[in-house]
Amino acid sequence: MKKAGISVSILDADLARIVNIVEEIEEGGADSIHLDIMDGHFVRNLSFGPGFVKSIRRLTDIELDAHLMVERPGEYLKGFADAGCDSLTVHLESDVEMASVLDRIDELGLKAGLALNPATELHKIESLAVRLERILIMTVNPGFGGQKFIGEGVGKIKQAREEISRLGSDALIGVDGGINNETGRSAAMAGADFLVAGSALLNSERLPDAIRKLRNECFG
Ligand code: DX5
Ligand code: ZN
Repeated sequence: MKKAGISVSILDADLARIVNIVEEIEEGGADSIHLDIMDGHFVRNLSFGPGFVKSIRRLTDIELDAHLMVERPGEYLKGFADAGCDSLTVHLESDVEMASVLDRIDELGLKAGLALNPATELHKIESLAVRLERILIMTVNPGFGGQKFIGEGVGKIKQAREEISRLGSDALIGVDGGINNETGRSAAMAGADFLVAGSALLNSERLPDAIRKLRNECFG
């Protein structure tokens, strides 16, 4: 993922059309596909497992980012690495020893990310920030696509920008949840390096055009 990146969440995609959707994501020049992994415990929803990710990997060389909304992420890292993910983002709120989960992601040779729910305070990442490739600021409570962007997130993005430079971290800041052309612009102006967008893109008339438009409106 590069700065000014667009990542497409396929959580709400019509999976009967997934081959075409992946082609459209490539045509639109997106930087990555965001895979929302849910275990029915950390969030009250279920989504994809490693088998599905492996099938997506066969379709494309685009970067695959797994966002693990699961209670015990450590148990699934190898499975998602073997399935072909390029980065693994785990939640700070998962009840685990986070440093060892990040060690394991490093050992697997993947990029490590840490996601924060809207209610989680930023200072909690302090001791981990230097070893992260990305920080994912959630602007919805995770679990479902199509929710409304929580506006307070904008202040948190600004704060994250300041904090990571103060801490000497070069982590990218991503924003996930309720991103459309308007909210994405506020997030980008506040300092986001990449935006994750699902329903706004998937419900658009033409996905490749919507991806290009989002990039132009937010980072152009
Ligand atoms: C929420 C997920 C998000 C979400 C994005 O639990 O982590 O990635 O699916 O979808 P939209 O853009 O519809 O909020
Ligand atoms: Zn996500």
